[in-house]
Amino acid sequence: MRTYLITGGTDGMGRGLGLHFLERGDRVTAVSSGEAKGRAFLEAAARLGAADRARFLRADLSTVAGMNAVVADVAAAEERLDGMVFATQRFQQTRTLTADGLEYTFALSYLSRFVIGHGLVGLLDRAPRPVVLNLGAPGGFPGTVFWDDLRFDREPYKGMKAATQASRAIDLLAVDFPRRHPDSRVKYAVYNPLFVKTGMAAPLSPVKRAATNGLATLFAQRVERAIVPMAALIDSPPPEPVSAWRRTTRLPLEGEAFDPDRADRLYRLTEEILERIDA
Ligand SMILES: NC(=O)c1ccc[n+]([C@@H]2O[C@H](COP(=O)([O-])OP(=O)(O)OC[C@H]3O[C@@H](n4cnc5c(N)ncnc54)[C@H](OP(=O)(O)O)[C@@H]3O)[C@@H](O)[C@H]2O)c1
Repeated sequence: MRTYLITGGTDGMGRGLGLHFLERGDRVTAVSSGEAKGRAFLEAAARLGAADRARFLRADLSTVAGMNAVVADVAAAEERLDGMVFATQRFQQTRTLTADGLEYTFALSYLSRFVIGHGLVGLLDRAPRPVVLNLGAPGGFPGTVFWDDLRFDREPYKGMKAATQASRAIDLLAVDFPRRHPDSRVKYAVYNPLFVKTGMAAPLSPVKRAATNGLATLFAQRVERAIVPMAALIDSPPPEPVSAWRRTTRLPLEGEAFDPDRADRLYRLTEEILERIDA
């Protein structure tokens, strides 16, 4: 029986993967901020006969306190982790700052993956073949890291700009991970599922939500189908420490998106941000 931690595990692809693992007999802790989706996840687990192997952990992963609480809880509760899946998102149409004074998408989509991934690498390394699946958008819309203006204080804010900044930061986090843990056995995969029909349109205005859902009905994959290659990747990752994927196409770890110097710069900047919040 394997043990998985899934952030954003109560909806969309995170939920789909969680229920898939539970159905085949594994243990899953799903993290998200909403009680109702957490309850629904546990009810779905019970219908699969997996009530005793499913756990819901409520945490607001836009805050560093929430991220640290998950690391502390899981470190205390688990002997080891066979895999982690990062699948949180909440699109912000307007610029939103978190309780820590960070831009919301940067905090939720990038920083939570940084804190939880680095924070729990020790538990992963107690498993025989540990894997991290980080859902992002490698090889998708280009996007930029606004190094001197991560919060969009001066740069005009757009939800897509914040989302693509986080995607680029996720790519750099992935390529940098083995450098921070050279002795780790973790196989780290950053994965672009392309267009999948999930609850992602929920935060949009009614008009944009209707348009997105309409497009999703026509063009997006269903969660049940989208998770098949993800589950296969978790079960059999390539031997290299890091890989990047656009669905089943493996992407080369080259160019600006995976540049080791930029990855190092982002790591150091992120450590500074965390130190400031801690102080
Ligand atoms: N769907 C796509 O077409 C697509 C395309 C490319 C990449 N992706 C990436 O794939 C991943 C999964 O996407 P999805 O569409 O399956 O997601 P989704 O259905 O929108 O689910 C998002 C999950 O994140 C949780 N979440 C949101 N805000 C949170 C917070 N503050 N703290 C903790 N948890 C929070 C949600 O639960 P609560 O709301 O209850 O907190 C939910 O469980 C994301 O990283 C996304 O960027 C998706």
